[in-house]
Amino acid sequence: MKALEKSIQECGSIKELEKLRIEVFGKKGYFTAQFAKLKELKDDEKIAFAAKVNEDKGRFTTLINSKKELLEAAERSEALKKDAVDVSLYSRLSDAGALHPVMSTMDKIIEYFMSLNFSVEDGPLIEDDFHNFEALNLPKFHPARDMQDTFYCKDGALLRTHTSPVQVRTMLSQQPPIRMICPGSVFRRDLDLTHTPMFHQIEGLVVDKKGMVSFANLKSILEEFLRYMFGNVDVRFRPSFFPFTEPSAEVDISCIFCGGSGCKVCKNTGWLEILGCGEVDPNVFKAVGYKDVSGYAFGLGIERFTMLLRGVGDLRSLFEGDLRLLEQFK
Ligand code: DAH
Repeated sequence: MKALEKSIQECGSIKELEKLRIEVFGKKGYFTAQFAKLKELKDDEKIAFAAKVNEDKGRFTTLINSKKELLEAAERSEALKKDAVDVSLYSRLSDAGALHPVMSTMDKIIEYFMSLNFSVEDGPLIEDDFHNFEALNLPKFHPARDMQDTFYCKDGALLRTHTSPVQVRTMLSQQPPIRMICPGSVFRRDLDLTHTPMFHQIEGLVVDKKGMVSFANLKSILEEFLRYMFGNVDVRFRPSFFPFTEPSAEVDISCIFCGGSGCKVCKNTGWLEILGCGEVDPNVFKAVGYKDVSGYAFGLGIERFTMLLRGVGDLRSLFEGDLRLLEQFK
């Protein structure tokens, strides 16, 4: 028994300890043998013997358990030493991404209008004729539909050609007053230097009781917005036509590249065409069942804003996923 105790104390691994434990407590081990001896003893000897064996059992249990703990601790610290990580080492530089310039322009515009308490609305990319055209005062066979080369899907569904259908959806699901913008992608059958089949727009709409919203409000809000985006530019409103607004206007800013004196970008006009807007056409209100209201709307292309703000010359380069372009905008 003394020898077993000594072996346990001196043992150097958990495996070895387990072997010893079996030698002590196993079926063929030390204690089984001890208890077997009981049978051969006289009754008065039995009690003292059993008490002694039980005491030994307790001692061995403690001995083995505490040895096990020691060995485990040693093993752990050994493993820690072996697998140590030097946290003071420089890490390899990773290729962290960044927001695409179109998305960061979008975010900036959204932030601006949110600060004016506009809600941000969403709508489906696959639209129907009613929301994309009809309710926006673009009846079937209206020549203005030609301005928007449309991708048609099955069963009369189509890819929305602008974010204006979200105006319609918002008015159908909410009551005035409405102040909303809707950012998102739109689709047209177009591909050249200045057009891609998918691009992004932001639509704005404000509706309130008749007489509460005027063209003057529209003008001031857009002037402020454009100066926020482009700095101290001149802003001008040119009469134009959109089926969903009356009167309608196109808005120009003085060229941010030449300051208005004329250059390649502004085609020597000194002005950059930047967005479309107007007072909501009464036919649009009729289509959504609104009465005694007035409102204004505007729509802009986010890629155009991005190209001007970041000096990107070719629209298509925004969609090629070339890391060299993207890395410039980190
Ligand atoms: N939906 C127009 C387009 O895609 C943009 C637009 C122009 C929206 C004038 C408007 C607006 O709300 O008033 O070309």
